[in-house]
Amino acid sequence: MRIAILISGRGSNMRALLDAAKAPDFPADVALVLSNKPDAAGLQVAADAGFATAIVDHKVFGRDREAFERAMQAELEKARVELVCLAGFMRLLTPWFVSTWHNRLVNIHPSLLPAFKGLDTHQRALDAGVTEHGCTVHLVRPEMDTGPVLGQAKVTVAPGDDAARLAARVLEAEHLLYPRALEGYIRGLEDGGVTVEGDAVAGITPVLLDYGRTGPANR
Ligand code: GRF
Repeated sequence: MRIAILISGRGSNMRALLDAAKAPDFPADVALVLSNKPDAAGLQVAADAGFATAIVDHKVFGRDREAFERAMQAELEKARVELVCLAGFMRLLTPWFVSTWHNRLVNIHPSLLPAFKGLDTHQRALDAGVTEHGCTVHLVRPEMDTGPVLGQAKVTVAPGDDAARLAARVLEAEHLLYPRALEGYIRGLEDGGVTVEGDAVAGITPVLLDYGRTGPANR
């Protein structure tokens, strides 16, 4: 399956997907890395690794979100993309784009959804006093940070955590979760075994990882 990765920044999740896609048995090829920001650091990483890149600068389109998205859509069609992965892509998408890619648009979010939608999730998790935090890979629906869950990784909040320390452990978990959850979903699409109804995904087992307190690196 030909996939695109949409980024706005450093692209560490993009890199995790690019690395995973190198494995011969990974069920996807990365046909395009697309950024809405010309200076996104991830663009250079992708280009250096030999992947096709494109820039669609949202600023050129002012407030016309759909015109911006139609320009992205043209790039995706040119690259014959079949599924889109958001990886730190910092633009809200219109219902038009989301419905164009219905069940073919995947996102990673740094919290255990439905908790802590939106930005600044790590500080908000600490402020709320939760003991379990983590990340979620999900199909995108028009309402921000909602949609059927393909996988989650739990990271236990440690005493003395600040937002930066917690974010670093969650990010490591993201890098392991995203390729695995994507792989399972694409295999399900390809063998026809997966069905999505409302918020329920059937026919594949969601990836559930538990990194406890130490995080992935030390386990
Ligand atoms: C990640 O924490 C991701 O979950 C969120 O934005 C961040 C992007 O980081 N959506 P990176 O660009 O993948 O390093």
